[in-house]
Amino acid sequence: MVRTPDSNAEEKKTAGEAAAEMVRDGMVLGLGTGSTVAWTIKRIGEMVEVGMEVLGVPTSYQAQELAIASGIPLTTLDQDPILDLAIDGVDQISADLTAIKGGGAAHAREKVVASSAQWFVIVADSSKYVDFLSHPVPVEVLPFAARLAQIWIEELGGTPTIRQAKMKDGPVITDNGNFVIDADFGVIEDPGLLAAQLSEIPGVVEHGIFENVDELVVVIDGEVKVFSRV
Ligand code: A5P
Repeated sequence: MVRTPDSNAEEKKTAGEAAAEMVRDGMVLGLGTGSTVAWTIKRIGEMVEVGMEVLGVPTSYQAQELAIASGIPLTTLDQDPILDLAIDGVDQISADLTAIKGGGAAHAREKVVASSAQWFVIVADSSKYVDFLSHPVPVEVLPFAARLAQIWIEELGGTPTIRQAKMKDGPVITDNGNFVIDADFGVIEDPGLLAAQLSEIPGVVEHGIFENVDELVVVIDGEVKVFSRV
């Protein structure tokens, strides 16, 4: 799995910081994972430093560490099951706001947090905004079911690869103790159908197709564009 190169670093910063402007005093926030929303979290930290009161639910260990370092008080979905706003990054998103997430293997918690939010915003650099989704779909799976899940994915027409760790021998282990299969389907004609099919596979914890995005903040040609679900 190739992560987005840093050639889009400036766009990520602009998009991430722009989304922080949606945050209001008193909100309970979902804090996403990745290099774009990291700018949002840092900016929210600056707002907290000058008196804004918010609480955050992090979507990963990475987001939690960054939120703590930024001075954002944390809560949990047990304490605050309804969030005002969740902001997160993305690996690919199309004009109808269907997204593929999970490049950082955090999509299971990201989906839970996003579904708890009254408004779910994606922040992205221009490379993520596409006409047709074709990014391999990350599928978090119980290690016990990994081989079986790969066979099911092949039956659906995909090419599965168990994601391998970079600084450890063997597979990536998610924050939930599971494996991630990157399932390459080429151009995805019907993301809704594929999402339903992947959810049916025994042992699949969560896949990375998100159909609940309310708003996209993306930087294109140096300009911040905001697209909302109609
Ligand atoms: C985490 O699993 C992903 O869903 C991230 O939200 C996504 O990969 C973020 O990408 P960037 O690091 O390019 O923002």
